[in-house]
Amino acid sequence: MSGQWRGMAARLVADGALTAEWEPVFEGLPRAGFLPDLFWQHHVATGEVEAVDRMRDPRRWREAADSVHPLVTQWDDGEHEGPGRGRVASSSASAPPVVAAMLRDLTVRSGQRVLEIGTGTGWNAALLASRLGAENVTTVEVDTSVAAAARGALERQGLGAVTVVCGDGFQGYPARAPYDRIIVTCGVHTFPRAWWEQCRPGGVIVVPWGTRFTPTEATVALTVAEDGRSASGTFKDLVQFMSLRAQRRAVPEYADYVTTESRDEAERSATTLTLAETIGGEWDSSRLVLGLLVPDCTVVLDEPQEGQRPVWLCSVADDRSWACVLFREDRQHSTVYQYGDRRLWDEVEAAYGWWREQGRPGLGRLGLTVDDDGHHVWVEK
Ligand SMILES: C[S@@+](CC[C@H](N)C(=O)[O-])C[C@H]1O[C@@H](n2cnc3c(N)ncnc32)[C@H](O)[C@@H]1O
Repeated sequence: MSGQWRGMAARLVADGALTAEWEPVFEGLPRAGFLPDLFWQHHVATGEVEAVDRMRDPRRWREAADSVHPLVTQWDDGEHEGPGRGRVASSSASAPPVVAAMLRDLTVRSGQRVLEIGTGTGWNAALLASRLGAENVTTVEVDTSVAAAARGALERQGLGAVTVVCGDGFQGYPARAPYDRIIVTCGVHTFPRAWWEQCRPGGVIVVPWGTRFTPTEATVALTVAEDGRSASGTFKDLVQFMSLRAQRRAVPEYADYVTTESRDEAERSATTLTLAETIGGEWDSSRLVLGLLVPDCTVVLDEPQEGQRPVWLCSVADDRSWACVLFREDRQHSTVYQYGDRRLWDEVEAAYGWWREQGRPGLGRLGLTVDDDGHHVWVEK
């Protein structure tokens, strides 16, 4: 174990991300034991990724493995080869502080049975297995080669009794249900009934949940109702996870939205709201809240040009409505263009106004209930 990893668990406990019961488990299972020789360190703040190859630079490899950064371990569902960056990061070892906080929110007790969706490297499953017993952990991974590598890593760590299933975690894994806890380690915006059906009443489901609005999700810890027909709980932390494979957020094609006709007919108006206070800050809870209130809409921030920052709002429903706001910091008003059945910027303004009226609630005051009718977001008084 490197000096850098030693003390990581204690720091996470001191930061409140990890509870004391998890400290020895974390300390004893360094993430490095689950990583391939080549991975890509993701610097979340800048969006940069850096290839790290154990054969070329073992010291750098160890330093990255023991860092707080997420590490991409697969691109493009395994179709990408070589040290360059692929298009879509499709598997990773999550950032230790995020893993810690989700385990904290899972509130496990000894002997409980857990289902994980998104095995990835197998590290999180190993942490659960080490705490609860390998026979109590089931983990589902959609990608065959990722699942095989995780199985190998778990065996090398003496945790081969973990049930690693290759399949679609959206279906849960009914064969070993009911579970006391379910932890989902890929981002979702649609919640399957299978998860709360396979979790016992009073059980907890921790999941990064978001909308199509932005790439940022928030973890939410839902308790399954006594009648087993819904699950409900408050949001915890803003996170950015790779999406469940079938729920990836596609970036809209400009040409599919802005036709010559729609450009000519777009309605022009002005807004006094700024980019920063509405949709600019990727890590602001306001952005998450706006996404909850403006459904089926994706935001794309364009490159700044000639003193203005164009921001596109595109409806991902069939209507193909769009809006473009040309944000300017040097003027009191920014120009807005809107086209289609929906007035997407007007919806954002209304949502922002509601959030302001509610006293700008942060994540801790916002909650989610999921049931057969879909999802419902609420504000705790
Ligand atoms: C962020 S990684 C998980 C990290 C992992 N828990 C660890 O400890 O390394 C997300 C994983 O979810 C997997 N995944 C995506 N869609 C899935 C699905 N429908 N069912 C199961 N796994 C899925 C991806 O292939 C990827 O390996």
